[in-house]
Amino acid sequence: MNGIFITFEGPDGAGKTTQIQLLTQALREEGRECVATREPGGTFISDQIRAILLNPEHKEMASHTEVLLYAASRAQHVHEVIIPALAEGKIVLCDRYIDASIAYQAYGLGADLQHVELINRYASDGLQPHRTYMLDIPVEAGMERLHRRSGVSGKPAGLDRIEQRERDYHSRVRAGFQRIAEQAPDRVLLVRADRSAEEVAEEIMSDCKRLLHYT
Ligand code: TYD
Repeated sequence: MNGIFITFEGPDGAGKTTQIQLLTQALREEGRECVATREPGGTFISDQIRAILLNPEHKEMASHTEVLLYAASRAQHVHEVIIPALAEGKIVLCDRYIDASIAYQAYGLGADLQHVELINRYASDGLQPHRTYMLDIPVEAGMERLHRRSGVSGKPAGLDRIEQRERDYHSRVRAGFQRIAEQAPDRVLLVRADRSAEEVAEEIMSDCKRLLHYT
């Protein structure tokens, strides 16, 4: 596989979607072939799993079910979209990947970390990103952004099942992401996201240019 796999992670409201759009656009302008995609989702089957996961009415969902459904959505996405695109030499930019399950389900919900890692290794056939941009934002600032954009620019009104969780949950998720960044400094770049979209994009773009020259 000679493509490049880049993921974007971070707490809700950190601005990943905007940053993926900006980086995809910049890379395409340089003539690079890019596939921008997201989890949970990215395929017909994975989008149906996404709807089950994020439905606020599914309050009784067990943490085991949640871990397995995110992994199932990922398995389909990896095999149907990501691996074929990498095999064609494309750059794949993915909004969330395995780190999200580690942060949200293991650190946030308390699911067993080793099980979450093992299940996801199976789901992804061990596929790891070359680079991860981890957008970090204080929980309050992220939540405020979420509330502001709810119901605008194509977003459904209201918060989804995960976004609705209490502040402490989101603090654990943020700490989980920071921990992952500390443990994998060669892969993960922690980017301060409580700045303008342009400033964040500039930092990501200059790192990405270096990455593309190396590979
Ligand atoms: P998100 O990318 O935030 O979607 P959107 O930007 O459209 O709101 O993902 C939806 C939610 O799913 C988000 O709250 C994070 C959560 N999530 C997990 O809990 N575990 C995972 O493995 C993934 C991929 C996402």
